Amino acid sequence: MSFTNQEKFVQSPRRWALRGDLLDFTAAPAWGDTASPAVRFDRDHWLLIEDGRIVGRQAAAPDDTWVRKDHAGHLVLPGFIDTHVHCPQLEVIASYGTELLDWLKRYTFPAECAFADPERSRVGAEVFLDALLASGTTSAVVFPTVHKTSAEALFDGAARRGMRLVTGKVLMDRHAPDGLRDDVVQAERDCIDLIDRFHGRDRLAYAVTVRFAPTSTPEQLAMAGALCRADASLYMQTHVAENRAEVAWVAELYPDARSYLDVYERVGLVHERAVLAHGIWLDEADKRLLASRGAQVAHCPSSNLFLGSGLFDWPGASFNVSLASDVGGGTSLSLQRNLQDAYKIQALRGERLTAWAGLHAATRGAAEALRLGHEIGGLSVGQTADICVWHWSQGPVAQLRDGVARELHERVFAWMTLADERNLAACYVAGEPML
Ligand code: GUN
Ligand code: ZN
Repeated sequence: MSFTNQEKFVQSPRRWALRGDLLDFTAAPAWGDTASPAVRFDRDHWLLIEDGRIVGRQAAAPDDTWVRKDHAGHLVLPGFIDTHVHCPQLEVIASYGTELLDWLKRYTFPAECAFADPERSRVGAEVFLDALLASGTTSAVVFPTVHKTSAEALFDGAARRGMRLVTGKVLMDRHAPDGLRDDVVQAERDCIDLIDRFHGRDRLAYAVTVRFAPTSTPEQLAMAGALCRADASLYMQTHVAENRAEVAWVAELYPDARSYLDVYERVGLVHERAVLAHGIWLDEADKRLLASRGAQVAHCPSSNLFLGSGLFDWPGASFNVSLASDVGGGTSLSLQRNLQDAYKIQALRGERLTAWAGLHAATRGAAEALRLGHEIGGLSVGQTADICVWHWSQGPVAQLRDGVARELHERVFAWMTLADERNLAACYVAGEPML
């Protein structure tokens, strides 16, 4: 799949209908509830799609003015939303032997330097966006690099595909190698220019993107906070409380702050459009603050395991929690694979993640937390037709398991636990086929 060759872009008819087993959510499922009333499952139903939007949902086949795409016997879900992922880190996925701070120094920062080149940024964005779609992720909140050109490439690539994408140039003016630092004045200029050109255009939105507290001076954080205060429609993305050595370093760098989260709070970066990755080592006051601000933590299960960062307390979260791959710290763009890791993290904590809580976080939960619930994350009339069609099983083992499932949660949980991007049968963005 590639969009560099425009001939591969096959247009859907204006009005068409999709058949399959429809699954989405009408509310947030309660933790641990396997029989949640928030689940909407319509076996063998039709979605009617007109001009890229869902206009009907029904049991009966539509009349023949509708072009039919028959995915009977397949699972149909809203496209996944990955709320924290790094475009330039595809090349450092699966890098051996380090925790966060050494991993950044040894693998990540060197890889990101290459994105100073606009052509490298363009190709990187193309490969990355195609890989997201091939994993069933139709919307994402993305880190590019410090280079303005890397954010431009992501915006351009997403616009060409019609994707809902949130990104912004990374801010980092200290504790990073040459070629990977900006300064407050130039960074502010670049942000303002990118906001003017991309924020609110097509399905694009700008995120003020603070890498993390150690790589920004207090002056740069203040500038980032001022940008957010000047326009409440802007997103903010960063990392927080991921790793114990990182938390200790932040305490040294910001001795006056009450906590790591407080470094961001003091400058106005914790708000309802703030997406903070990890949040493993937050204290109770931090958690209350996130909840009161309406901010979200992007839970990054495969990254948290791979980098040995810690076990996220999901059931103890009083704030919004969405799901994220955090590639290249994470080991897969597949959100099913990340849910498999999320389940195991909770199992180690003596808890259990239901398929409903997991899939909700990857769809409707993320959409609501991003204040985009009217547009993405569900299969309701009026929403944009970002839809993925999945094989219920791939291969003999999954087929056997699927065949003996006795009720819906058992079936969907087994699917979530065994599936990955190889189960993807079709992917539509605003009604257009992407595979
Ligand atoms: N903290 C600061 N930068 C990064 C990054 O690129 N990945 C992860 N996982 N944590 C970070
Ligand atoms: Zn990250």
